[in-house]
Amino acid sequence: MNDQVRFGVVGLRRGQSFVRMCSAVGGARVTALYDVDLPRSRRAAAELGASAFGSYDELLSSDVDAVVIASPLPYHARQAVAALEAGKHVLSEVTACQTTEDARELVRAVRASGKVYALAENYTYLDEVELVKRLHDDGRFGDVYYGEGEYLHDCRDLWYGEDGGLTWRGMGQLGVYCTHSLGPLLYIVEDRVVSVSALAVPGGRFDPRVTCPTMDLMQMVTVRGLTLRVRVDHVSPRPHQMAYYALQGTRGCYEAWRGLGDESKVWLEDEHEPSRFHAPARWHPLAALARRYIPDRLEAPPGARAGGHGTSEYWMLRDFLAAVREEAPPRIDVYRALDYTLPGICAVESQSMEGMPVRVSDPRGWGHDLPDEQLQESCW
Ligand SMILES: NC(=O)c1ccc[n+]([C@@H]2O[C@H](COP(=O)([O-])OP(=O)(O)OC[C@H]3O[C@@H](n4cnc5c(N)ncnc54)[C@H](O)[C@@H]3O)[C@@H](O)[C@H]2O)c1
Repeated sequence: MNDQVRFGVVGLRRGQSFVRMCSAVGGARVTALYDVDLPRSRRAAAELGASAFGSYDELLSSDVDAVVIASPLPYHARQAVAALEAGKHVLSEVTACQTTEDARELVRAVRASGKVYALAENYTYLDEVELVKRLHDDGRFGDVYYGEGEYLHDCRDLWYGEDGGLTWRGMGQLGVYCTHSLGPLLYIVEDRVVSVSALAVPGGRFDPRVTCPTMDLMQMVTVRGLTLRVRVDHVSPRPHQMAYYALQGTRGCYEAWRGLGDESKVWLEDEHEPSRFHAPARWHPLAALARRYIPDRLEAPPGARAGGHGTSEYWMLRDFLAAVREEAPPRIDVYRALDYTLPGICAVESQSMEGMPVRVSDPRGWGHDLPDEQLQESCW
């Protein structure tokens, strides 16, 4: 491989943020672009000095080392499999896939190719998530037994194309878009969901053609016995908060900001006042712990914010490049990608049975005939 990793980028709206990050991170160059909107590809290619391809297969036949898949969600799995089969590394937008069958195909393709597959779950790379993870790993919350994640984002403007027809977002997805909420929680506590019970608030309220749920609610149990709750809402008119998280442990707790001047906060038994019935504990600013726990993060260069979600895309792309150069395994490999994605697929099955719990399988065992219990011993 050249000193510079050559990237092909697929899907040039979200994909533009990866194009910008490549120059901020260094060691990577975008040489090939593909979008079904060919004029859009050509304009972007002219600006970059890259090649615009008329088909995905042509891009895969070029000399790129890695492909960033930022096309609409229904294409992720099949485009990732095709790239791996063509011998390319893959960084795929979320979610990883929409069905269990596609998930199995993805695992098979990753194993057969020996190439790097990573999920671009950028919220796991947020500074706040990293700070809470390091507090967790330092034992500051004690034994964590409960976590919450919420993605509240009024996306109704994105339901319609220029001709007034429904876009892929308006047509809805298979599987709950839960990776931004669940991924960071699982990253912080290093765990995996074993069962999910979910409800859907029915859709069709704002436009009868848009029937995807107005809100998805998931309650989950993990291998380590944590209870997790996730709420995903792309529909409701309200102020946005796409990165709300909370954790509760035996010796501390954390809650992200809610709005109206609120800030993210912690209470830690070993540092703050005691929690008593007559003298309740108080919140303290999470930010006060940043210099001690994430000094490396605070030194990110100014260009690191070009991705659109703080510095998260910068750290994510650095991790991916390190994996491609075989310096470190990818943080969110295909198994973790599916740990974050499969509960959202199982949630739809649970919703169809009014919340009956559905077991979430461990993809590490697929094709190996190992029972889940045995795998759980070896995974963590
Ligand atoms: N991680 C994040 O924070 C984040 C943010 C935004 C979007 N996303 C994800 O990125 C993906 C794209 O989102 P978006 O907002 O750019 O969507 P979009 O619909 O606004 O744009 C999609 C782009 O892909 C092109 N396209 C459509 N079908 C294609 C195909 N088969 N192959 C190649 N290109 C194709 C379209 O012409 C368009 O340029 C989605 O999966 C979305 O969930 C993630």
